[in-house]
Amino acid sequence: NANKEGSLLIEIVNKLHDAFTKLGIANLDLPQIAVVGCQSSGKSSVLESVVGRDFLPRGSGIVTRRPLVLQLIRDTTLQEEYGVFLHQSKQKYYDFDEIRQEIERDTERITGRNKGLSPLPINLRLYSPNVVNLTLIDLPGVTKIAVGDQPEDIEKQIESMVLNYIKRPNCIILAVTPANSDLANSDSLKLAKSVDPKRERTIGVLTKLDLMDEGTDALDILNGDLLGMKFIGVVNRGQKDIDQKKKVKEALSSEETFFQTHPKYAHIADKMGSGYLATILNNKLIQHIQNSLPEISKSVDENLSKTESELEKIGETEGEIQRKQIAFRSLSGFAQEFKNLIDGTSSDVDGSV
Ligand code: GDP
Ligand code: NA
Ligand code: MG
Repeated sequence: NANKEGSLLIEIVNKLHDAFTKLGIANLDLPQIAVVGCQSSGKSSVLESVVGRDFLPRGSGIVTRRPLVLQLIRDTTLQEEYGVFLHQSKQKYYDFDEIRQEIERDTERITGRNKGLSPLPINLRLYSPNVVNLTLIDLPGVTKIAVGDQPEDIEKQIESMVLNYIKRPNCIILAVTPANSDLANSDSLKLAKSVDPKRERTIGVLTKLDLMDEGTDALDILNGDLLGMKFIGVVNRGQKDIDQKKKVKEALSSEETFFQTHPKYAHIADKMGSGYLATILNNKLIQHIQNSLPEISKSVDENLSKTESELEKIGETEGEIQRKQIAFRSLSGFAQEFKNLIDGTSSDVDGSV
C-alpha cells in the first residue's frame, strides 16, 4: 500500500530530524510545508483545518510572531492525542487550549508583548490518530507598516523570515490568499513566485470565499484561468465563529455544505475544502520525499560519520559524551530503518494528485 509506506517514510524522516536536532547538528534539509500570505489572510486557520484541531493562536492583526514548526505524527494506536514542545520535551499536552497558551507564552518570552517578532522557531509535535503525517510551518504574515515594538524595516524582516523557509527547494509552499482582496497585488504570491517561478511546489489556497461580495464568485481564480495557477478554495471560521468557540469539526462540515450547495461551486465541490487540501498536501509531501531520497541518504551518511568522529574527541564532560552516545544510537537506528525504507519504496509511491 503506497500511502501507508509513504506515511511511514515521513515518520522516519521526522524522527531523523529530531535526532539531528538533539545532536546539535545542522538540520537535514527535509521536506516541509510552509504557509505564506498577508496578515489575517487565514494562514493559521488553514493550518488548523488541515490538522483538524483548535490550538493555534488566531485573530485579527499580527498574532503569529515567530515561526511555528509543527510536526503531525499519525499514531492510530493512541486513544487520546497530545502535543509536545521541543523546549519542554517532558510535558505532554492533552488540552489544546493549553497548547495555544504555551505558544503564546513562549512567543512573548522571546518577543515581548508589544507585537515584536523573532525568527527563532517554536517546535511542536502533535501525536494523533486523526492526522495525516505532515510537517507544517506557520509564519508571520507579510506586512508593510510597523506597529508596536516592530522595527521600521518590518517588511524586509518578515520577508527574509518567510524566504528563509520557502527558498529551500524542498519546501512546499501554501500560498494563502483571501478571495475578498485584490489578488493581482498579492505580495505573498510574488514571494512564492520569486523562489518557485514554475510553481512546481506552490499550492494556491483561496480563503474567505464566504466573504465575497454578493453576486461575485471566484471560479476563474479557482480553475486557474486568472493567475495561471489553480487554487483550492476553503472556508474557515470567521472571527464570530472563533469568539463563539465554534469547533473545527463543525466548521469542516459547514464548509462542506457551503461548497456542495453553492450554485457556482457545487460541480467542483469534491476538489474544494480543507479535507481535499490535506489529501493533496500529503501526496505532494510523499512525492517530494521520494524525489529527495538520494540527497537525504547522502546527508545521513555524512552526518553519521561526522558524529562518530566527534564522539572520539577528548575534552568533553562525561554527561555530554553520554548524551551524544544515546542520540547517536538512535540516529544509527533511524538511519538503518530509513535505508531499509529507501530500498523498499524506490518507485511505487504514487504522489500524483
Ligand atoms: P493569519 O493572520 O493569516 O494567520 O489569519 P488567521 O487565521 O489568524 O485569521 C485572521 C482572521 O480572519 C480571523 O478572524 C479568522 O476568523 C478570519 N478568517 C480566516 N479565514 C476565513 C474564512 O475563510 N472566512 C471567514 N469568514 N473568516 C476567515
Ligand atoms: Na492574524
Ligand atoms: Mg497566523
